[in-house]
Amino acid sequence: MSTPQLFDLHGRTALVTGGGRGIGRWIALGLAEAGADVVVAGRKRGALESAVAEIEALGRRALALPTDLCVPQEVQALAAAALAFARPIDILVNNAARTWAAPTLDYPLEAWDRVMDLNLRGLWGLTAALAPAMCEAGRGSIVNLSSVSARRGGFEEEQPVVAYSASKGAVEALTTDLAIKFGPRGVRVNAIAPGPFDTDMMKHLTGDARAAHDAQVPLRRTGSAADIQGAVTFLASDAAAFVTGHTLVVDGGISALYPIR
Ligand SMILES: NC(=O)c1ccc[n+]([C@@H]2O[C@H](COP(=O)([O-])OP(=O)(O)OC[C@H]3O[C@@H](n4cnc5c(N)ncnc54)[C@H](OP(=O)(O)O)[C@@H]3O)[C@@H](O)[C@H]2O)c1
Repeated sequence: MSTPQLFDLHGRTALVTGGGRGIGRWIALGLAEAGADVVVAGRKRGALESAVAEIEALGRRALALPTDLCVPQEVQALAAAALAFARPIDILVNNAARTWAAPTLDYPLEAWDRVMDLNLRGLWGLTAALAPAMCEAGRGSIVNLSSVSARRGGFEEEQPVVAYSASKGAVEALTTDLAIKFGPRGVRVNAIAPGPFDTDMMKHLTGDARAAHDAQVPLRRTGSAADIQGAVTFLASDAAAFVTGHTLVVDGGISALYPIR
């Protein structure tokens, strides 16, 4: 196989949760550009339909499946509709997630549950519903979106998001465990831990605050579409055929930095 063929996703179908906007939309478009047909899921129908139009304009098949991943019945309906579109789903990108900022010493249990409900329970529910068809077919690639917050703590003033960090740590633990369990069935499971990317999650930083933030990143910028598209396409494709149980950090060097100047 030539090197471009290793990254070629023609003939494969991907499902991207949160594929209507933010990083998920970039991932969905990146996989389509590499040749994959793409199912996008999320709560907002309009955003999903506009992503579908963009994917179809690239010559790929696409399907919008409005779903609240916190509702188990909706997760089951999503899996059934996706498997009717393509069986198995070759590439599952568990991207949808939420955060909730609150003072750590008063962190509301409701916030903890809401974050875990989507970031962990919803992710697991969909994975459990789609993995059997992958294992049956003897192929598949699951890519979970983690975060650098899974590995590094943050000061209260900057990152009062304990449930988010814990959920992402659990996503990485689940990634390694499933990699071992599914590996003998031909299904690879990896994760990506992004640093700061330019989405709604970064909207609160503008002007000088944004410049100060970027100055702390060794590569001196936040991540953009191509940075995540390349990483996901690699893990989804045969270029990563011997890679499983790995978390690829895509953070401009933040995790490599010893932070006290
Ligand atoms: N942006 C960053 O700097 C950054 C850094 C580290 C890690 N990450 C990770 O990267 C991933 C994407 O982040 P992002 O910045 O693109 O986030 P975002 O802009 O907040 O988008 C979140 C996505 O999740 C979907 N979603 C939210 N709740 C949902 C629910 N109940 N059911 C189904 N879908 C739901 C949203 O679609 P709807 O609103 O239509 O439901 C949206 O597409 C997340 O896993 C995040 O933790 C991001």
